[in-house]
Amino acid sequence: MVNDLWYKNAIVYCLSVGTFMDANGDGIGDFQGLMRRLDYLQGLGITTIWLMPFQPSPCRDNGYDISDYYNVDPRYGTLGDFTEFTHACRQRGLRVLIDLVVNHTSDQHAWFKEARRDPQSKYRDWYVWSKKKPANAKDGVVFPGVQKSTWTYDKEASMWYFHRFYDFQPDLNTANPYVQAELLKIMGFWIQLGVSGFRMDAVPFVIATKGAQVKKPVEQYDMLRTFREFLQWREGDAIILAEANVLPDTDMQYFGDEGERLQMMFNFQVNQNTFYALASADTGPLKKALLATKARAATAQWGVFLRNHDELDLGRLAPQQRETVFAAFGPDPGMQLYERGIRRRLAPMLDGDRHRLELAYSLMLTLPGTPVVRYGDEIGMGDDLRLPERECARTPMQWSTEPHGGFTKHSRPVSRVISGGPYGFERVNVASQRRDPNSLLNWMERMIRMRKEVPEISWGDFAILRTSRDDVLAIRFDWRNNSVVCVHNFSPAACTVKFRVGPAAGDTRTLVNLLSDDHGEADAAGRHAVVLEPYGYRWYRVGGLDYLLKRSEV
Ligand code: NOJ
Repeated sequence: MVNDLWYKNAIVYCLSVGTFMDANGDGIGDFQGLMRRLDYLQGLGITTIWLMPFQPSPCRDNGYDISDYYNVDPRYGTLGDFTEFTHACRQRGLRVLIDLVVNHTSDQHAWFKEARRDPQSKYRDWYVWSKKKPANAKDGVVFPGVQKSTWTYDKEASMWYFHRFYDFQPDLNTANPYVQAELLKIMGFWIQLGVSGFRMDAVPFVIATKGAQVKKPVEQYDMLRTFREFLQWREGDAIILAEANVLPDTDMQYFGDEGERLQMMFNFQVNQNTFYALASADTGPLKKALLATKARAATAQWGVFLRNHDELDLGRLAPQQRETVFAAFGPDPGMQLYERGIRRRLAPMLDGDRHRLELAYSLMLTLPGTPVVRYGDEIGMGDDLRLPERECARTPMQWSTEPHGGFTKHSRPVSRVISGGPYGFERVNVASQRRDPNSLLNWMERMIRMRKEVPEISWGDFAILRTSRDDVLAIRFDWRNNSVVCVHNFSPAACTVKFRVGPAAGDTRTLVNLLSDDHGEADAAGRHAVVLEPYGYRWYRVGGLDYLLKRSEV
């Protein structure tokens, strides 16, 4: 099997075509606009673009309700524009991942229309039906407070259909071999058009048993191997990045013991505990989460992130911990969502505090895995809490001080651009930050550049170092005789922290500061003490080895 492990040391940037850049002036972002911004993205240093759904859709769930898997929504362009886009990415050495939303379709998809209309249609069995209202129709809703049930009566079919998410998103019957074959066909189609893989939506639900009789859904993990094999037979270096918010003891079922299932998964466990650490300055639970999610095959990789396009889901924290995060970052009920999360963007959650933002991003860039940045976070964009549910954190990209932040020339953008106040486009935009050497954007660019030069984080083994304080996290990465130690102070107070660096090749004592010139020195026993600023951080290369020594990757 041909394999290239490019994703191990990638930097992923996630965006929606519709809110990124509008080139044709109709108020909606499009592929032409995105293409004009590729040099910006390349300059930022990201290596991979993750595109959220852009296929035709009634857009009742931000495009996660697809009505045709083999096309581009005309609002964003054409298939021709799409292939121009993947070509333009390839020219710049950028890879493209796209969302693969196959747990459900839109209720406007031709398959569902046919399925509900004609009991004899082959599509009837592509969905999940019940003659009677299932007893558990209220169980398992994903959007509590907004979604009432997981079964809805369809008048046309005179039957109930299953939908794990909203009622306009009927679940596909993924146990049906024809549905499975179609799913592979969809992957094959987009691979042919130049993508390097998929962010697979709602994986635990895709592979779960579904039906009125199912009391407790059981995941059919073998399906994952089928997806992966098909993909790699078609294109050796294509990958699947799974959205699977599962408990650590099932992680290996997704990766496969030998790494034979999905290559990547988002680390939700670490994500939630990162926010707890940011809120409480107690790094204990984050350390536990890192250790609990440590095991994985050498070819498998975590996707690490801070915020995404959904709510910050805190559902896996203990109630007391969740309350701590709510109190710190989303005290107002209007900031919370689905009884488990916070719907704000990162910058307002952290009060726009530059030191704290740097701490958070520096941490994300040095957690074991591949970092996934959300568009706009590189300039510290805010949210618009007047918008419903998760829409508040999906406003258009803020490019300049021109009207509508330079996102569109139209008078009515697809979604209001944030204007006025500390996060309005007048103050937070790419053009201004570009000119300012001390801006968050320029800081981020430098950090991303350095992160790419530290493949130990992506490739290496890690150990959590014992420190003299609970509010400081120190992680050491080892790979091919190179070692790096990253230290983060979660507290708003300056502190002196002591830790033992551990063994290293070469001169163990020197700690080369990768971000500034105040280097460190460990004592003969490998102990080191450093004074950290409030929310301070350090990236050290351990030992006197030439850190620019080229390490060849696999
Ligand atoms: C997960 C996606 O991230 C979310 O935005 C969407 O609503 C659901 N899956 C349903 O597709």
